[in-house]
Amino acid sequence: MIAIVYTSQATTDFDKESLKSLLLQCRINNKKKNVTGLLLYKNREFIQVIEGEDEDVEETFKHIKTDPRHDGVEAILKERIDKRFFPFWAMGMCNPDKSEELKNRPLSDIKYNKMSVYQLLKDFKNDLL
Ligand SMILES: Cc1cc2nc3c(=O)[nH]c(=O)nc-3n(C[C@H](O)[C@H](O)[C@H](O)COP(=O)(O)O)c2cc1C
Repeated sequence: MIAIVYTSQATTDFDKESLKSLLLQCRINNKKKNVTGLLLYKNREFIQVIEGEDEDVEETFKHIKTDPRHDGVEAILKERIDKRFFPFWAMGMCNPDKSEELKNRPLSDIKYNKMSVYQLLKDFKNDLL
């Protein structure tokens, strides 16, 4: 199994409704492939974690990269994993402002500090936020 974490910039403003329908689409597709993960959105920026069997994750990432709703898709982590961070989330979504680390920073800051990706995931996983 592998996990990919990427950042991207939304090409339009996502409101609650458009985020909800994006999430629904993710969940329907991901359930079919047993892909799990987490999606964060703030001020036109996304961070997403996708994890699962290599082929399924690669294929999903390929689709995601060509989606016109965002651009500048940049993988910041790609790792072999033994077990999933988010086994029960076909795609979870959290409010990044609940994280002390992210509250006053653009999401893209995460690119410059790979350690904080792990910390962030751990926080969200433990449902502390
Ligand atoms: C920020 C973002 C995250 C996405 N995440 C996923 C995802 O986790 N899984 C997925 O299948 N599609 C995801 N998509 C949608 C894909 O880019 C693409 O639209 C979808 O896979 C095509 O699905 P369809 O074959 O049902 O039309 C995402 C799109 C965006 C903009």
